[in-house]
Amino acid sequence: MKNRSLVSINDFSKEEWIKILDLANEFEKNPTQKILEDYVVATLFFEPSTRTRLSFESAASRLGAKIVGFSDSASTSVKKGESLNDTILTVSNYSDIIVMRHPREGSARFASEVAPVPIINAGDGANQHPTQTLLDLYSIRKTQGTLNNLHIAFVGDLKYGRTVHSLVAALCEFNTTFHLVSPVELKLPSYVKKHIKDKNLTYHQYTNLKDVISEVDILYMTRIQKERFSDPIDYEKVKNIYILENSMLDNSKDNLKILHPLPRVNEINEDVDTNPKAYYFQQALNGVFVRQALLTSILGVK
Ligand code: CP
Repeated sequence: MKNRSLVSINDFSKEEWIKILDLANEFEKNPTQKILEDYVVATLFFEPSTRTRLSFESAASRLGAKIVGFSDSASTSVKKGESLNDTILTVSNYSDIIVMRHPREGSARFASEVAPVPIINAGDGANQHPTQTLLDLYSIRKTQGTLNNLHIAFVGDLKYGRTVHSLVAALCEFNTTFHLVSPVELKLPSYVKKHIKDKNLTYHQYTNLKDVISEVDILYMTRIQKERFSDPIDYEKVKNIYILENSMLDNSKDNLKILHPLPRVNEINEDVDTNPKAYYFQQALNGVFVRQALLTSILGVK
């Protein structure tokens, strides 16, 4: 993985994903090791973030790396009209690796093609969020003891949800049965369903959340993303369509865990938070260990 960019989850092989998860498990036991003191990590966030940016920065800090970057491109020369090409070439002079989030699909791939340093895609529009996928896989393996043969429900915005697109692609390597819950307007795109079909795996589509809860090992909730709708009226129609409440979990499997990439708006009621099946805040913590594994593997230190 040394010096390679991670733009799409399929840029790394299944064997490489497993190596990252195993290394993340080692970092979870010992997260503070000053093995990146000679490195500078750049975090360029052209779109808002709490977990991805701060967990990358926490991961880098615990390893002794220096961090440069921005969380608001309005405070940079992008505001004066600087191109992504020029920003990436400039920041490559100041850092050994660039973590970038950008609202435009394909921007991370473009950056990886022009940058002399590796690029980690921290989310490009509605396309991909591969580091979220790795922490999701870590969370699933940790809670279920395996990644194989699970029934996994994806709930909410399956059309624009980049975390869903990346994770479905990865889970196709583990004989998953997919349960896809969304309003008709936000169904999983055909090009993502093709990954499932190509592997001869099964998927079921639903519009009612209650139909799947007792069937699955993982319930992957997502936010209906207001910022992805071009017409606010379309958002208003679906914004409250799924709200998971604690009472709805009564007949769920004992091993069920509820995941959510976060942030949530109202799709998981706060009365679920104290249920032992709620795992979304631990999932966010796992992001630190997985990102430590990624940074050290790509920088060639592990
Ligand atoms: N999961 C995730 O991408 O969260 P942020 O938008 O807060 O980074």
